[in-house]
Amino acid sequence: MSDFIPPYPKRHKKPLSPLKILRYARRDLLSIWTENSFRRQFMGTKIFNRSVFIANCPEVVKHVFVTNHANYERKSPQMRKALEPLLGDGLFISDGETWKKHRNLEAPLFASEHVAKYSKIMIEVTEEYVQKWSKLKPGTTLNVLPEMGTLTAEIICRTLFGNQLGTQQAEEIIQSFAQYQAAIEQMDSGTFFGLPNWVPTMKWGKAKTAATKIHKIVDNVIAEGIKAGNQDTLIAHLLRLRGGEANDALTMQEIRNELIVLFMAGHETTANTLAWAWYLMSQAPEVEHRLHTEVDKVLASGSAQFDDFANLTYTRAIIDETLRLYPPVPILSREVCSDDTIRGRDIPAGSIMLVVPWLLHRHELYWYKPNHFIPERFLPNAEKKPNKFAYVPFSVGPRVCIAKLFGTVEASLCLAILAKNFRLTLPQGTQVTHDCRLTLRPKDNLPMQIIPR
Ligand code: HEM
Repeated sequence: MSDFIPPYPKRHKKPLSPLKILRYARRDLLSIWTENSFRRQFMGTKIFNRSVFIANCPEVVKHVFVTNHANYERKSPQMRKALEPLLGDGLFISDGETWKKHRNLEAPLFASEHVAKYSKIMIEVTEEYVQKWSKLKPGTTLNVLPEMGTLTAEIICRTLFGNQLGTQQAEEIIQSFAQYQAAIEQMDSGTFFGLPNWVPTMKWGKAKTAATKIHKIVDNVIAEGIKAGNQDTLIAHLLRLRGGEANDALTMQEIRNELIVLFMAGHETTANTLAWAWYLMSQAPEVEHRLHTEVDKVLASGSAQFDDFANLTYTRAIIDETLRLYPPVPILSREVCSDDTIRGRDIPAGSIMLVVPWLLHRHELYWYKPNHFIPERFLPNAEKKPNKFAYVPFSVGPRVCIAKLFGTVEASLCLAILAKNFRLTLPQGTQVTHDCRLTLRPKDNLPMQIIPR
């Protein structure tokens, strides 16, 4: 079992003032927490007159995401404001009846039998990376974060659009997303703490230009998709949801918005997970060794298959443990719809409720050695199963990530296929730290050396 404790930001002895919270959070959302935040079960404070609560134990997480979820399904006002120009009423930011209708229509597209088909694309693209890396001189240094970013962007592009999106359009769309994201990341702390709408938080001009470009490309691809007819891509499945009964149909604009949501939500999270997994393994030789033993056995007969996923239990445990230590979405933020009471405290409508995977996943009450890297805790035969409301990298309840299975299969297969062929080592003296804005990723692109096995 590994003894490795990856570095984490300093924890304060005493709570910060609201102004300090905002100042620290602007730079790094992980830098605001006290030692006590990893022990307490429910917390509340006021920031700029808005009450902010933190659900920090399984019972309260269950209350807000399952038992009383309708009251907590609305994203924070700033999150909606920042993403609306790009996503319109897309799944990620809609709520109420619109969200329910779209969610019900799309959920079947992420069922296991579909993921099995998409896994062919995951495997095909990863094998192309094996070819690409094989041509490099052993010991070449690559920036692992952007490398994993292009790998997962390629996978989601082909899953959504097949080969319809040529290389040039794919590059344009990836670049425009990066521009949009860079602009909305200006909003950082405001998103989560529900700052009043007058606080200037983002560069609208740049964001709107990027959004317009993305809309144009996706509209074109949709038009081509209609001509191309039936294919086993997500765009083809979504296009079949056009027209028909009012309640059972999506308009062209809604389809475009949903495709953009899936592209946006569907690559950076997995890329960050893979990058962190490479870093963690490079510091824990016994974990790396156990992974190699597993992938050499399970993938011995050549190309990987969807069915291999079931046998890659240790690979999957590494991904689960990586998602625990470095949840790509470290804070989930909601606007409270109507008054509620939790643990005897009044929760007024309009306040902000946070569920913070960063805290829950390292909570002293719910985890053994919470800051250690121990994939074994996620093995099927582990003595103590993680509490499902204290482990929420994909969220939980009706609004859980629609592609939880897709993301887990993708991260596991990509890691297994690459690890069968290569080791990644950290150049001596490199200090790895994090960058936490909307998502949690390794800072400075994570340069690592590629060694063929
Ligand atoms: C390791 C990979 C992934 C992680 C950790 C992850 C995590 C999450 C989380 C935490 C949420 C909830 C956000 C919130 O409530 O504020 C979410 C929602 C969502 N995710 Fe993922 N995700 C991953 C991969 C993917 C992929 C690959 C796709 C698409 C193919 C995707 C599509 C979505 C969508 C559409 C939603 C919104 C669902 C709704 O609101 O009903 N995710 N994801």
